Amino acid sequence: MEYIKIAKISDFSECRMKSFRILARHVGIFKAEDGSFYAMESGCQHQQADLTLGHIKGDVVTCYRHGWRYNLRTGECLEGDAKPLRRYGLRVEGEFLYITRGPLSEEQEYE
Ligand code: FES
Repeated sequence: MEYIKIAKISDFSECRMKSFRILARHVGIFKAEDGSFYAMESGCQHQQADLTLGHIKGDVVTCYRHGWRYNLRTGECLEGDAKPLRRYGLRVEGEFLYITRGPLSEEQEYE
């Protein structure tokens, strides 16, 4: 799968999340509390609020609007039976982050 350069690691020294548009899709890059980076759709499954405006505790991001929570590693929604957010592949190379152009399939894992 092809990766494209998306951001600098240093872009996340002051914040934990940023939103990007990739091929007309809203994608968030999230930095968990342990410093690991994850990428997934940034629209909340409830009412599509931007999850990058929420807050992170551990490896869970919480939506700022009504509090729905998502696991950053899996995209799983921790509220009710909402479907998981689609994840994107993300690589750290030197001082940059590289992301896949499209979401990962169910079988693909983060590298
Ligand atoms: S829009 Fe995210 S919890 Fe309501």
